[in-house]
Amino acid sequence: MKPMLEIRGLTKTFPTRSAFGRATGEVKAVANVSFAIERGQVYGLAGESGSGKSTIARMIMGLTRPTSGSILIDGQDIAGQIGTRAHGARVQMVFQNPGASLNPRRTVAQSIAVPLVAHGFPRADQPRRISELLDMVQLQRAFAQRYPHELSGGQKQRVAIARALAVAPRLLVLDEPTSALDVSVQARVMDLLTDLGRALDLTFLFISHDLSLMRNFAQRVGILYLGEIVETGETPAVFEHPLHDYTRLLLASVPVISAEEEAMRPIIPLIDGEIPTAEKLLALRGQTQGKVTP
Ligand SMILES: Nc1ncnc2c1ncn2[C@@H]1O[C@H](COP(=O)(O)OP(=O)(O)OP(=O)(O)O)[C@@H](O)[C@H]1O
Ligand SMILES: [Mg+2]
Repeated sequence: MKPMLEIRGLTKTFPTRSAFGRATGEVKAVANVSFAIERGQVYGLAGESGSGKSTIARMIMGLTRPTSGSILIDGQDIAGQIGTRAHGARVQMVFQNPGASLNPRRTVAQSIAVPLVAHGFPRADQPRRISELLDMVQLQRAFAQRYPHELSGGQKQRVAIARALAVAPRLLVLDEPTSALDVSVQARVMDLLTDLGRALDLTFLFISHDLSLMRNFAQRVGILYLGEIVETGETPAVFEHPLHDYTRLLLASVPVISAEEEAMRPIIPLIDGEIPTAEKLLALRGQTQGKVTP
């Protein structure tokens, strides 16, 4: 069977500019990235800030055009389909900040109706569909008439999830969907996504810098570093036996949540307590070569 999402050699460069707007060069935000997600699976994409996670998400959504490479959804190249209903019906996205992604002047029902209208969903059936979507994300139907400022962060993110599910896509791109939420709320939203994934047979691209969340949620992970996937594999294998120094460093810098996880935490000192630059990593790689066995 074809993978639900297949990324082949995806690359994106952005021009860099001086303070006066003069082009000074280019930055490779995403460099020859390839991975695939099988139907019904969760693939986690992790990496420090600026490693290219959101740029990949934006290219899948058609919000940014790739410099080269291709993106296939259900076996079809999306290149000619950007902005079409067919593309929107296959993939939808949930953004990091639910406050910013919901229009403050629209009620919950109006926000959820936007994709329904765009996809030609019959107007008469909209209220029923909106109630059904609120049920799915476990919000009371009365929320339909509320405005974003009347909702908590977790409730707003549930609305954003309902909106993303409105036209029944098979693939959801979740770009740090819970990082703006409190930890307890985070867990409930992740549980909801897990349940919805099972019930609706969804496939997820889950982007997060939170590796403990990723460990619970994703079957496979890819570790991005400076735009490149430096390591990928089954989540338990990558977490228990990281092959790449950068993955070890990322794991070492994650707050652990249980004694069991503490025991698995690789013993690698963080240089100055920070994720290192490429030069520092290369120096470190020299020092640790052959010595680090998880
Ligand atoms: N529109 C743009 N113009 C120029 N450079 C950009 C643009 N969008 C992203 N970049 C650059 O591309 C690189 C990757 O950015 P991206 O937002 O994809 O990272 P990220 O992994 O999502 O980071 P974060 O964890 O902070 O969200 C960064 O160096 C960023 O500055
Ligand atoms: Mg991002």
